[in-house]
Amino acid sequence: MRMRFKPYARPELNACPFSASDPMAHKGSWHHSFARPAQPMHLELGCGKGGFLSRLAVQHPEINYLGIDITDKVLILAKRNIDRQYEAAGRKPDNVQIMSLDIERIYNAFDRRDTVQRIYINFCNPWNKKAGHKKHRLTHPKQLVLYRDFLADGGEVYFKTDDDNLFRDSLEYFPEAGFEIVWHTFDLHRDEPDWNIRTEHEQMFTEMGIPTKALIAVKR
Ligand SMILES: C[S@@+](CC[C@H](N)C(=O)[O-])C[C@H]1O[C@@H](n2cnc3c(N)ncnc32)[C@H](O)[C@@H]1O
Repeated sequence: MRMRFKPYARPELNACPFSASDPMAHKGSWHHSFARPAQPMHLELGCGKGGFLSRLAVQHPEINYLGIDITDKVLILAKRNIDRQYEAAGRKPDNVQIMSLDIERIYNAFDRRDTVQRIYINFCNPWNKKAGHKKHRLTHPKQLVLYRDFLADGGEVYFKTDDDNLFRDSLEYFPEAGFEIVWHTFDLHRDEPDWNIRTEHEQMFTEMGIPTKALIAVKR
């Protein structure tokens, strides 16, 4: 379903203390933009409405999180979800930020000084309709080599999808880009790991009877 333009989204995001309004301003110094710069940093690429990010970040104050999405229409909902989760926990959101950025140009916002320990990619667009479009997939080798630049050695990518073609291709993409797949499943919920947090799309596809495929890849 297409979401309507939300004129209030950008002003509300600009006024939000945990929304990074200029993605390039922190290039090379992301760690120092958090209250506790020495903590590990994890990214969520395509965080959407932030149901996953907000719950994960509030559970792990010892990690700094940055959620990235291209559209303000969903980032504004992520902002409000984060506010709600931290308010319920009685804490300030000092270990989480959100940012609007086209992940295909992530090199504009990060470099190797921004050592990231983990990246989450949840239910990204499968780009299945035309063969030439596959290069837009967030797990395409063209993208994975960009992430390598700021991912620590031994850093991980946690990837989940509903889409069989994207998943099978991704099982090849990661090794092609120098990652080792250390774990994968074609049905994450059959024996659901206790670390899993279901995203909005995961919930929707599960209700449609579509299994969630998942893998963990390590940068070698
Ligand atoms: C299908 S939704 C999944 C949202 C959420 N991760 C979930 O699992 O519910 C994909 C999200 O990725 C974002 N996205 C797609 N391409 C992107 C890009 N190139 N850069 C940044 N965000 C992107 C979309 O705006 C959308 O919010």
